[in-house]
Amino acid sequence: MAAVAGESSSVIKVAALSGSLRKGSYNRGLIRSAIELSKGRVEGLQIEYVDISPLPLLNTDLEVNGTYPPEVEAFRQKILAADSILFASPEYNYSVASPLKNALDWASRAPNVWAAKPAAIVSAGGGFGGGRSQYHLRQIGVFLDLHFINKPEFFLNAFQPPAKFNNDGDLIDEDAKNRLKDVLLSLKEFTLRFQGKN
Ligand SMILES: Cc1cc2nc3c(=O)[nH]c(=O)nc-3n(C[C@H](O)[C@H](O)[C@H](O)COP(=O)(O)O)c2cc1C
Repeated sequence: MAAVAGESSSVIKVAALSGSLRKGSYNRGLIRSAIELSKGRVEGLQIEYVDISPLPLLNTDLEVNGTYPPEVEAFRQKILAADSILFASPEYNYSVASPLKNALDWASRAPNVWAAKPAAIVSAGGGFGGGRSQYHLRQIGVFLDLHFINKPEFFLNAFQPPAKFNNDGDLIDEDAKNRLKDVLLSLKEFTLRFQGKN
């Protein structure tokens, strides 16, 4: 497990990615809420938001002698250093949002830094709460060797009253926070089991 300076070795480092780049993003709000939970109700997780917006669009011409552009290299190192991944995956046209697919593809280039990482997906959006993107992401994860928790699933319809988020995109719904907490607990338990520590 990746060690964290000054932290107990049992702390699990989680890299959290949002497929939506907009300021008031509900999916980004889910990550903020997960970080808040990890500082209170869920112990043993250190969740870091990893911004994917600096990544250039994938173009293998940008790879020179097996090296990557600095933003890509920095991103790949963050994934490599993480014990597990939390994806907040909005649904764009029934699938994974393009910024997230771009990030998935960059980190899949040799060596694939997603390999053997436990992961969880959460999503917020219309209709099915982003559900269709989750199943496409799971399919992509087969080739990337990501290992997703199966349960609990977390989809959140952000548009159905009462309001689930405030105007800044912060999650304000207590039931959703509890469900998010259960995802984090499941990811923690699965990561420990995956690492042979449970
Ligand atoms: C390009 C685009 C495509 C979208 N396609 C879908 C879709 O297929 N299904 C759906 O439920 N919502 C769709 N939406 C709505 C988003 O899921 C919704 O705006 C969601 O709040 C986006 O996540 P965010 O709040 O984190 O930005 C789409 C939005 C965009 C911008």
